[in-house]
Amino acid sequence: MNNFEFKNPTKIIFGKDSIAKLANEIPSDAKVLLLYGGGSIKQNGIYNQVKAALKDIDHLEFGGIPANPEYDILLKALKCIKEEQITYLLAVGGGSVIDGTKFLSAAAYFEGETPWDLLTNKIPTLEGMPFGTVLTLPATGSEMNSGAVITRAETQEKLAMGGAGLFPKFSVLDPQVIQSIPERQLVNGITDAFTHVLEQYITYPAGALLQDRFAESIMQTLIEVAPKIIEDPKDYNAASNFMWSCTMALNGLIQKGVPTDWAIHAMGHELTALFGIDHARTLAIIAPSHYQYNFETKKEKLAQYGERVWQITEGSLEDKAYQAIERTEAFFKSLGIHTRLSEYTEAYEGTAELISQRFYERGWMGLGEHQNLKPEDVEHIVTMAY
Ligand code: NZQ
Ligand code: ZN
Repeated sequence: MNNFEFKNPTKIIFGKDSIAKLANEIPSDAKVLLLYGGGSIKQNGIYNQVKAALKDIDHLEFGGIPANPEYDILLKALKCIKEEQITYLLAVGGGSVIDGTKFLSAAAYFEGETPWDLLTNKIPTLEGMPFGTVLTLPATGSEMNSGAVITRAETQEKLAMGGAGLFPKFSVLDPQVIQSIPERQLVNGITDAFTHVLEQYITYPAGALLQDRFAESIMQTLIEVAPKIIEDPKDYNAASNFMWSCTMALNGLIQKGVPTDWAIHAMGHELTALFGIDHARTLAIIAPSHYQYNFETKKEKLAQYGERVWQITEGSLEDKAYQAIERTEAFFKSLGIHTRLSEYTEAYEGTAELISQRFYERGWMGLGEHQNLKPEDVEHIVTMAY
């Protein structure tokens, strides 16, 4: 097992009707900006619950943060934060609203030239404006981690940022929010969380027995509850297990002491930036090709995953590893998620070369757990995913 340090300061308030408790977490003298997305919270009752909880707290609102939070829109929220002397942020939404809020938390205290530098120069945020979240869509884990991904349409870029100062102070997780989520977003959530575990697990054996079993148990739980929540989003037990699995998949725990990959996400973000494909779907496009291309260096963990998560018992280590890739792709397809780029866009020719060129220009010369995937490897993987 590798050396590690672990600190996760986010307080989780989990369970039925827990939104009412959020006011206890916000300082009474705070001036709050409530941030939300395209308006789903006004249809499903979450907005009213949040407003009721905030009744004695001084607050303003900023709505309209889109999926794949857009830099230009966030700059308008930043202006409001500065003009209104906001001191505390409250994100009510999925990964996009929470990530947008993290950007604002960092940008509010940032003294550099332009807040886009936080992304292009990978400047870590050690202290941000305090914020809490009310999660409305289990998927990203953003509610209990310190990372964010921001999109800039003008340049067709989607880049990551983060830092120890960007953990939410608290996150409210009420599994009842799942009831109003459209099936497209539910299956996205399952696929995203599942791939988060894969990115921290399908590498090479590191003797981390407990972390491996944490990872396997999250994937097994997601496989078990997926059909149940799709069939009946009101199934509270399935919803609560789904929600907690998504949080645990990317709150830092399972990645401690083990190598991590994240190349699937790096390539996937480009597909969202170029074609607007939903984040989770970009992962389902890239993952099978990524594992086939890197089969030799990943086959031990692929076989272990096949045995323990998919109960594949027959054949050699290579056979099991290969079947594990097939089972993963079949799982995504069983959720109704297409796994080829050409199923999402007719304009896929040239994509691999473009992404490889972008990585080259950014100096991303070594992706993956061995930091040895070069832009030319990326070109192969994306081509295989057409
Ligand atoms: O905008 P509203 O009206 O809120 O509607 C949203 C949006 O249209 C809707 N929705 C959310 N909760 C709902 C609901 N509709 C009905 N009922 C509810 N309870 O769902 C749509 C998608 O929301 P979004 O927040 O975009 O989805 P998700 O949570 O999948 O977030 C995706 C973003 O997170 C980033 C992705 O790249 C993408 O930008 N990620 C963030 C990560 C992190 N911070 O750790 C890690 C991930 O790998 C990922 O990169
Ligand atoms: Zn993801």
